[in-house]
Amino acid sequence: MRFLRKPTILVLVVSTLLVVAILRPWTPKPTSAVDLRNRASASAERLLEERVRHSPGKYEHIPYRLKVSVAGLLANNGCVCEGEEGGVNLPFSQVLFPRVGAYSLDRAFQASELEEVQRRRAQEFHSFQMRYQTPVDLLIVAKANSPLEFPTQGVEVRPLKTILIPGLGVQGLSHDHYVVNLTATLGTFDVAAQVEGVTVRGDAEMHMSLSTSLLPQLNRQLQFVTYTNTLFHPNTADTVQFETDGHQALFTIKIRHGVTPKLYNPGPKGDYNISALVTIATKTFLRYDKLQVLIDSIRSFYPTVTIVIADDSKEPQPMRGPHIEHYTMPFGKGWFAGRNLAISQVTTKYVLWVDDDFIFTASTKLEKLVDVLEKTTLDLVGGAVREITGYTATYRQTISVEPGGEEGDCLHMRRGYHHTIAGFPHCVVTDGVINFFLAHTERVQQVGFDPRLARVAHLEFFIDGLGSLHVGSCDDVVVSHASKIKLPWSQSEAEKTYAKFRYPAKSSDASNTKNGLLYFKNRFKCLTHN
Ligand SMILES: *[C@@H]1O[C@H](CO)[C@@H](O)[C@H](O)[C@H]1NC(C)=O
Ligand SMILES: *[C@@H]1O[C@H](CO)[C@@H](O)[C@H](O)[C@H]1NC(C)=O
Repeated sequence: MRFLRKPTILVLVVSTLLVVAILRPWTPKPTSAVDLRNRASASAERLLEERVRHSPGKYEHIPYRLKVSVAGLLANNGCVCEGEEGGVNLPFSQVLFPRVGAYSLDRAFQASELEEVQRRRAQEFHSFQMRYQTPVDLLIVAKANSPLEFPTQGVEVRPLKTILIPGLGVQGLSHDHYVVNLTATLGTFDVAAQVEGVTVRGDAEMHMSLSTSLLPQLNRQLQFVTYTNTLFHPNTADTVQFETDGHQALFTIKIRHGVTPKLYNPGPKGDYNISALVTIATKTFLRYDKLQVLIDSIRSFYPTVTIVIADDSKEPQPMRGPHIEHYTMPFGKGWFAGRNLAISQVTTKYVLWVDDDFIFTASTKLEKLVDVLEKTTLDLVGGAVREITGYTATYRQTISVEPGGEEGDCLHMRRGYHHTIAGFPHCVVTDGVINFFLAHTERVQQVGFDPRLARVAHLEFFIDGLGSLHVGSCDDVVVSHASKIKLPWSQSEAEKTYAKFRYPAKSSDASNTKNGLLYFKNRFKCLTHN
């Protein structure tokens, strides 16, 4: 071994040198450290705060009468956790006379631990806000009658690149001498051309000053002002101060990369080729007989569409066949973990989610759902599920959030939808749909299914996606549901085990986990639904 040492060291030294040599040209030249906390420059923020704070004071002596009906619509950081009173507590009463129930989510925790949970949640929420706020979110108020002309929005620069700033000008002033200043914090100014009679100071710096005695020359010069981003910090913005004697304006320049597209090849032109466009994903647990029925029914309509199956059964049975991908998982990993695994393996533009006890029929026209997603900006569209009784459900839900201050916000879920969709008479826009939906693969992967939700969960995905997913629902694409209601004594052993895992008793850990996640992860204090 000993004789190997020397050459080994030599090889190490040489390769280290090589790596250094290769990396060197790529290492950017050292710049001052960049503050990645994503805040607007302190001076700009102070200025804005003062402006907003001082202007209303002037009119305090003028009386007004509050219009309560409208003023009440303005959020006041204080939603209360209240449901509808009354109603009878009979079996099926919720189906026959739906009323709004309210649930305090902090009950998911013991009283003794609640204070500590609240403290940790507040801390996490603070760092979340630091991550997601950018200077573009800053409130900017334009002062009245400013002679400064500037772009209010839409200026954007790629990281470390240069742009001409459009729309800068000074109008309606008559002075002997004009000075305009530009100040930035994440980049520098310069001029792409020099105009005679205008003095430029501070070119290639973060503070540039233009002075002249001639207004037209000044405005000509302003057309050539450039901005170069010098601090690499994408997805933020530079708040630029633009000022002349006694007048000041602020505008933002967004700093970001272009969005890198991820495109899918739809196959040759013509009718929608479902096999090229759609992957069917499902999650199974013990119910192989039902799964086989589903696969057979899919095959009689779509013989070559890929089916992805995530399976966390204790003793997984092989599922073989053309265009079937069967992924086994650790036993009892759970419902959302399986959904997550299944969608992570999809390589087509769209993914269709189905439960393992659904059955395709002649009414399960995937082409219709593809058509909706191809022709609208929706990210996801649900269909309808027909029960054995003949009853058809779309399970449309609207979801909204009302601010609730320090203790968290209120989450409101109601059956229903927002509006119909022009050109698609069977479809509406809503926020949550049934377990049968087609979606842009990319978009559901971004939201993801939280694997902490192991048992009863569905709408949690749409709650996580609120604000990023645009959801539709069509009732003319129907899948059938194998019978769900089965009397306990006629269940097989597999069905009994299944029921034990899937439908835990209401007060059990599973619903506490769910409420605990709504409380901590999503920062809600209250859930109301009907
Ligand atoms: C412009 O900047 C210069 C320094 O570069 C400063 O002396 C002058 O007061 C500023 N003028 C205005 C109007 O802000
Ligand atoms: C549809 O797509 C599949 C998979 O990409 C391909 O094998 C098949 O030939 C296509 N069918 C037609 C009619 O283009």
